[in-house]
Amino acid sequence: MENTTNTEYKVGDLIYDANIYDGLNTFLSDLQFYKNWMPKEVNAEILELCSGSGRLTIPLAKEGLKITGVDNSKSMLEQAKIKTKNEKLEISFILADIRNLDLTKKYDLIFIPFNSIHHLYDNQDLFDTFKVVEKHLKDNGLFIFDCYNPNIQYITEAEKGKNKIAEYTTTDNRKVIIEQTMKYESITQINRIEWHYFINDVFHSVQNLDMRMYYPQELDSYLKYSGFTILHKFGNFDEDKFNDKSEKQIFVCVKSKEINK
Ligand SMILES: C[S@@+](CC[C@H](N)C(=O)[O-])C[C@H]1O[C@@H](n2cnc3c(N)ncnc32)[C@H](O)[C@@H]1O
Repeated sequence: MENTTNTEYKVGDLIYDANIYDGLNTFLSDLQFYKNWMPKEVNAEILELCSGSGRLTIPLAKEGLKITGVDNSKSMLEQAKIKTKNEKLEISFILADIRNLDLTKKYDLIFIPFNSIHHLYDNQDLFDTFKVVEKHLKDNGLFIFDCYNPNIQYITEAEKGKNKIAEYTTTDNRKVIIEQTMKYESITQINRIEWHYFINDVFHSVQNLDMRMYYPQELDSYLKYSGFTILHKFGNFDEDKFNDKSEKQIFVCVKSKEINK
């Protein structure tokens, strides 16, 4: 049988060009949730995986939290460092791939916010990341992350055409329009999203934004078999219990052996 699996995964450079990203992602509706779960001990250390340009990292550090951010995009990290300096904060940022991170240190809380696990395309990518989390998390520490609850009806509708999803101006004064198309690939569970960028009203490029969908039952199992116990699974940042209509899957976990002692 011919193997038709498309094992290429793509994310265009413009998607994580920090100015283009920051102009689009100005929301902070998840900040209060993450703030509420942060450790209260004064010297607690926090690790944010996929910290990007510091959208959450900076406001959390402003609360006095000791936080380290890891990301594999130079553009996003440079932007995060500039913002950190402007705010006169101390944040350690590390350029690395979260799938094979080794900081030889343990943290009180590790989080992966804003759908970032959708960039872990193979099961092995996810398992490797969970191992990294396990290795870096203190025994009674919390592991928190959020992602979408795959919505097949939404994808089916969105596949029918091109939709304008954003229009904004960046801080470096570029007018950006984004039109979106998508094609869900059931063999890999990857939503092959394309963003068509128009900059200053001129077509610029088509940028891929592949996102691996994670179904609720598989994520619950993967966490369990990777050594985590789910303390809470919420469906939104107001902490409503995950249900059939939930847009999000938001996990608060602990290492299993701790809870089973
Ligand atoms: C959706 S953004 C989230 C950024 C930031 N946490 C926020 O909330 O705005 C996803 C981030 O994950 C980073 N990323 C994707 N795959 C990664 C990997 N394997 N290792 C490290 N960072 C990764 C991207 O560079 C990007 O900055």
